[in-house]
Formats: sequence, structure tokens, C-alpha cells
Amino acid sequence: MSSLLFSEYNLGSIKLKNRIVMAPMTRSRAINNIPNDIMAEYYKQRSGAGLIITEGTSPSPNGLGYARIPGLFNNEQAKGWHKVTDAVHSEGSHIFVQLMHTGRVSHPLNLPDGAKVLAPSAIGLKGETWTDQKQLQHYPVPQEMTLDEIKSTIEEYVHSAKLAVEAGFDGVELHGANGYLIEQFINPTANQRSDNYGGSPENRIRFAVEVAKKVADAIGPDRLGIRVSPYGAANDMAEYDGIEETYALLARELSKLNLAYMHIVDHSAMGAPKVNPAVKALIRENFTGTIILAGGYDVQRAERDLQDKKGDLIAIGRLFISNPNLVVKLQKNEQLVEADKNTFYSPGEKGYTDYPLN
Ligand SMILES: Cc1cc2nc3c(=O)[nH]c(=O)nc-3n(C[C@H](O)[C@H](O)[C@H](O)COP(=O)(O)O)c2cc1C
Repeated sequence: MSSLLFSEYNLGSIKLKNRIVMAPMTRSRAINNIPNDIMAEYYKQRSGAGLIITEGTSPSPNGLGYARIPGLFNNEQAKGWHKVTDAVHSEGSHIFVQLMHTGRVSHPLNLPDGAKVLAPSAIGLKGETWTDQKQLQHYPVPQEMTLDEIKSTIEEYVHSAKLAVEAGFDGVELHGANGYLIEQFINPTANQRSDNYGGSPENRIRFAVEVAKKVADAIGPDRLGIRVSPYGAANDMAEYDGIEETYALLARELSKLNLAYMHIVDHSAMGAPKVNPAVKALIRENFTGTIILAGGYDVQRAERDLQDKKGDLIAIGRLFISNPNLVVKLQKNEQLVEADKNTFYSPGEKGYTDYPLN
């Protein structure tokens, strides 16, 4: 059977040279939250992918919860990102920016002056998070967002998406997965609001749908995707009754908006809880656009899931860190280098741009 993985794919109006997507990965190299030359080099090295999705990038000063993650809410950041998009386009690849608002997964020391740790409800995460100034610190209890803050946060996504287009991105992925702000609204264990944004599945998905609608209105739905992680446990996301129903509804609502894709994360290969296959099938059934699948993929599993039409594109994460030319290596069945976890989030070029290129 001929390979689907290495074949072209039309994602909206862009033609991808293969169906391998570089998964979004936070690498914490953006000093002062501004994309820089080594980031342009890093993404350029990985342009064998049909589509690159950047590391989580904050649309707001309030969403910069981790040390050294990039932002995309001012002109300096947009200028920095332009170097990245130019580098990737010069290699014939395409690139979406992942907009990640960290919400309560944050610490004031990681935020600029005047920014706030905001979330749907005032429920803090357990455990500690890294700060460059004082190393590990307990997560704070976030402030419950007012209705005005919800509105202004949605506007921040819209502003950021417009800047993304100016910075040369082919599109935007909303980070609705892994326990960040959008999933904090979706999951009732983090969202105990009694207004229109909490309670029923309709209310809990409202923030995601409103952000998607406004961003789609601003830049076009064919430039917009969303990442989701039903059953994911990252950042204190606990299981709840009605997960299938919630995500089927979300898929239906986003389908009505004609979004380009839904990107489904399954981190069970990384030790996270098993994801009920029914929820993936329900998203597929209820969403007419492209489906990207992610989590622990090798070539065999990727080909099988593509042939079985469970998804249209396959995102790969860790292997791209340590194998910049991953697509060629997979195609030729060459030996892969394993990534060094110690340099996942450390500053500088080590473990970032210095993996062997061939
Ligand atoms: C170092 C690292 C950083 C990550 N950062 C993000 C991120 O910013 N946004 C996101 O959606 N997922 C993030 N992920 C999850 C990956 O996108 C991917 O889903 C995960 O690594 C599983 O795919 P894999 O088995 O191919 O590595 C990260 C993973 C790693 C290893």
C-alpha cells in the first residue's frame, strides 16, 4: 500500500508537502518573551515537516505563566516571529502559531509588571512551578475572571491572531488542551462558575467557541485550528461525567464555524490516563474539517490511523526535538536520536539547535 504519511495534503488553501506535523513544544528559549535568531534557526532546521505548530505562545501579558515563553501581543514580538516564519517558508514548509494562555498555570514572578494570574474560578493548582528568580514556587490561587475580563481576554486572542497574520504565519492554533485557560473553562473541576460560562457543557465550552468565532471572523476560519485533550490529566485536569458529550458538542459548534482543524492529544504514551477511543471517534464524526492526531506516533501507527481514516494528519513531538530532519529519517527508516530531557526547557542553544542535522 502506498504511504499516506509522506503524501501531500490540502489544509484549507495551503498545500502541505506531507502529512507530518511538528507538534507544538514549549522550549523556553525566548528571553524577555521575544522570539529570537536561535528560535528561527531551530524551526528552520525542522522545516521538513508539512506543517509546524509553534510552541505555546501567549496572546496576553496575563498568559505568560512560564519562564521564557514567547508572546505575540506587541510589535516587537511580531517582528521576532517574522524571522521564524520567513525561515520556515524559505524551506517550503508552513507554520501555525499556537496561542496558549496559561491562565492559572502560572506564577506572578513569570509575569510582567501589572499582569494577573486569571482563571475561570479561584481554584489553585497543586504543586510547584519554575521561576528563574526563585526556582520552584507554589502555584498561587488565581483570581476568578470577571465578565469584563473574559471579554477583554477574548479581544486579546483576536489582536494576537491579527498580529500572527502580520508576522507571516499561515494560521493560528488555539491551545484548548493540557489544562491551560481554554480547558480550565471546559473542565468543571477547574470551572465552578454560576454564570453563562459555567455549569452545563454548553456553558463550559462557551469561552472556547467565542474565542474561535471572534478569531475566525478576524482572520478567516480556514486559518484557524484548535488543540484539545479530552481525558487529559495535565495541570490538574480531573475526569468528570459527560466528557464525550462535552467534546461532541464542542466539535459540532466548531464545525459550524468551519474551522480548519481539530487537533486531538492523547498523552497515554507518556504515562497519562488512557483516552477513551469513543471520544476521538465522536470528534471525528461531529467535525467536518481536518483532524490531527498526536501522541506517541511512529510510522506504522501513523499509517494505520491514516488508512483507517481516524485522522488526516499526524503530529509528532519529542522525535522532532532530537531529529531535525525527522521526515527524511522516517522515510529512509534511519536510526533516530533520543531527546535529552534535561535541555527541554533550559535557555540557549544546547539541546536546541545543536542536534545532528543529518
Ligand atoms: C518539551 C515539550 C514541550 C511541550 N510543549 C507543548 C506546548 O507548548 N503545547 C502543546 O500543546 N503541547 C506541548 N507538548 C506536547 C506535545 O505537543 C505532544 O503532544 C507530546 O509530546 C506527545 O507527542 P510525542 O509522543 O510525539 O512526543 C510538549 C511536549 C514536550 C515534550
